[in-house]
Amino acid sequence: MTLTDTVKAAFEAAFPGENFAALRVVPATDPKFGDYQCNDALKIAKKVGLNPREAAAKVVDALDKSCFEKVEVAGPGFLNLTVSGEWLAKRLAELAAADRTGIPQSGAGKKIVIDYSSPNAAKQMHIGHIRSTVIGNAIDRIFRALGYDVIADNHLGDWGTQFGILIKGYRECLTQEERDNLTVANLEKCYVLSAAKAKEEDGVWKDACRAELVKLQQGDAENLELWKKFIEISIGEFERMYSKLGVKFDTYRGESFYNPMMPGVVDRLLNMKLAEESEGALIVNLEAEKLGVAIVRKSDGGYNYTTSDLACVGSRVADYDPERIIYVTDDRQQLHFRQFFSISAKMGYTVKLVHVPFGLMSFQGKAISTREGNLIRLEELLAEAKRRAFDIVKERGGDEALAEAIGYGAVKYADLSHDPGTAIDFNWDKALALEGNSGPYLQYAYARVCSLMDKAGETDLDSGEFNISTPSEKRLALQLLEFPGAVVRAAEAYKPSVLADYLFQTSQLYSSFYQNSPILKSDDSVKCARLKLCDLFGKVLSTGLDLLGIATPRRI
Ligand code: ARG
Repeated sequence: MTLTDTVKAAFEAAFPGENFAALRVVPATDPKFGDYQCNDALKIAKKVGLNPREAAAKVVDALDKSCFEKVEVAGPGFLNLTVSGEWLAKRLAELAAADRTGIPQSGAGKKIVIDYSSPNAAKQMHIGHIRSTVIGNAIDRIFRALGYDVIADNHLGDWGTQFGILIKGYRECLTQEERDNLTVANLEKCYVLSAAKAKEEDGVWKDACRAELVKLQQGDAENLELWKKFIEISIGEFERMYSKLGVKFDTYRGESFYNPMMPGVVDRLLNMKLAEESEGALIVNLEAEKLGVAIVRKSDGGYNYTTSDLACVGSRVADYDPERIIYVTDDRQQLHFRQFFSISAKMGYTVKLVHVPFGLMSFQGKAISTREGNLIRLEELLAEAKRRAFDIVKERGGDEALAEAIGYGAVKYADLSHDPGTAIDFNWDKALALEGNSGPYLQYAYARVCSLMDKAGETDLDSGEFNISTPSEKRLALQLLEFPGAVVRAAEAYKPSVLADYLFQTSQLYSSFYQNSPILKSDDSVKCARLKLCDLFGKVLSTGLDLLGIATPRRI
């Protein structure tokens, strides 16, 4: 029985017939209020005609006190609960023995799609792609850990006018050798050259690009072949970055996949009288919801982003029937998502659509922009992270693999430790700091606990028992019990930062326990009990870091 269930039973016994489904027992905000608190007596008091303190006292009378060392009614009617050492030891043993470090399988049997990273084809990934990739992947991992059947879908920008410019550029701005050894860097180069020429006054180049695009759209075999080649090369290049970052997608259904479905979407919007003609274009008027108007077909007959995303919802529902689709993009796309979520609901789709918007990232205090020329390529950034991490680990004999684990982990954690909704600044010193809220700090904490366990060697942990005796042990123990809840909260809020905060706090509590409590030098029973706590901390920390996509080397 969980603590919440125990307290709920007391409320139910004290006030029969009342509903306590939403009752909450939460960790106390300060150890001086005990270990846990429940404020539900304040909520029920009026209804049952008592003052809140009387209501709380009635609950205390009905409470099974075997779990508690102390139960107090405090302030206006709070219940302050101090758990018994026995209860704590039992719960710790349960957590240590639980599968998946106690993470509940609340997603079993539920399917969700997560749409993230989604770069545009034929361009190299840059620093601006970090957030969607890293936040999306952590959400992906967290939902999988909760038992959800997750489809990670990379919604590539692989269709649109840029392909006319690219095909023309490929034919005329690259050498034969470059064409034979085509790379994304060369595609990017020919795009820039071709796009510049398309701006020339006479318009000849621009018309030629347009003609290539039309041919592609009409299914011309040669252009289609080229387009396919561009996409294949782009995906190959993206996958190189993803493998460094430990990111894997189940599908790469880009915008092109939905292109043939667009006329059908527009027909449906017309049939349902959701779309109307306006100045030659077709729009959905969302003024009533203060969302402006969304264009679903331009006056030149072309479709756009909204139409494509509506087609995409229809296709995902038909193919996967997910209960939820989560989109991770920057917050400048908020209006787009609100608009198409609203239209999708009007079209009758009941799938839950969630947009996880993230704030802008600046780099070392400067805005990132193409014009400033500081649009650092992701590959360069990762190489630099590895180089800097290598400088740190080489003195201790660390190798390249370790430098990657630390360097890439630092880049990821620098992002994930912030609420996705806020703007962030990436700073090398902060990301790689060994002290403070950083990836390397947490990785070191893990390596330290591993080395302690190695030193403890022959101690038989399985036959020993948890035994919490000091305040710093107790604070760590109570915090460890919160791990499954932290994973659930991170998922509910779509914020990996909730888990990152939890792991950082846990590591700080571990460190103060470690400083205050001799371990290897203690008597056997104390030593074993403390080692069990260290072991559980290591398990929680490595499971948690893995959910953030951060590697946990055992030795640093
Ligand atoms: N390719 C888009 C971009 O670079 C992101 C796509 C997000 N997903 C979606 N279904 N709209 O901004």
